[in-house]
Amino acid sequence: MERVKKISIIGVGSVGSTLAFNILKNLDIEELILIDIAGSLAKGVALDLEDTRAFLEFSTKILGTSNINHIKNSDIVVVTAGKARSAGMTRYDLLNINKEIAKKIAKKIKEVAPTSLVIVITNPVDFITYVIKKETGFGRERIIGMGSSLDSARLLNLVYQMVKISPSSIETMVLGMHSKDMLPLVKKCKVKGISIDKFLSQEKIKLISEKTKIRGKEIVELLKNRSAHFAPSLAGYQLIEAIVKDKKEIICASTYLNGEYGIKNVCIGVPCIIGRKGIIKIIEIELSREEKEKLLKSANYFRECMSLQ
Ligand code: 2OP
Repeated sequence: MERVKKISIIGVGSVGSTLAFNILKNLDIEELILIDIAGSLAKGVALDLEDTRAFLEFSTKILGTSNINHIKNSDIVVVTAGKARSAGMTRYDLLNINKEIAKKIAKKIKEVAPTSLVIVITNPVDFITYVIKKETGFGRERIIGMGSSLDSARLLNLVYQMVKISPSSIETMVLGMHSKDMLPLVKKCKVKGISIDKFLSQEKIKLISEKTKIRGKEIVELLKNRSAHFAPSLAGYQLIEAIVKDKKEIICASTYLNGEYGIKNVCIGVPCIIGRKGIIKIIEIELSREEKEKLLKSANYFRECMSLQ
């Protein structure tokens, strides 16, 4: 299978630049292109990253530019461009402005990087994933939204805080939209294959679920004029690594559903097998009646918001 040689990141704010750093630190690729419309920002970030070569010893060629045409023939394009939320805003408040940015980017991707896989990070991520899918016309396996993998990571941390057992033993999944309507499958958490209710009371399990839903908001309210970036960029990196190494890893990601879970024409987070070709398979796991209802609610919320556009 064709090796990933060129990755482009559109938008090099804190998520984009931290993601770039993680790519250089861990992956052997030929070219990393950083794009940002904000004047010389991408160039500055690129030069700073180049100076890490002495420590990280990569041979990747790095280019920072405001000219989006440089994404030409990328194997992977990451979209992080757009406004980030600040305290008091919901992710949905960003839709109007970020949707227009995403449409322009999608047209360019289709024109100059027609065989690329696209990772979407811009918020509200499920909607932007949908917009990019529609505008590019790419197969759904090539458009992957990062949202529920971040929520799953947050759930894992919160479980760890309570059970204090190695994070590598903990398995968590969050489905649905990357919003307050997300569905943390907290009752399905496992610690080394053992059900979470062997370790925690029902009250604690419920508390963890509620805390997961508001974790992003909690962070944004503390940071005030920007949102989280360490965990979001690593969640993006996890998707890229799964593609580059063709890991065939199960990761919860936002994808276009076409009947799976009884849901159509909506992008929400579900477990997917991710490898070099993108989303290789969507996995339909057994859900309780209550969980199913919540997932459908998430999908309905998606449709309602889209119809208001
Ligand atoms: C978050 O939840 C940025 O949506 C992102 O922190």
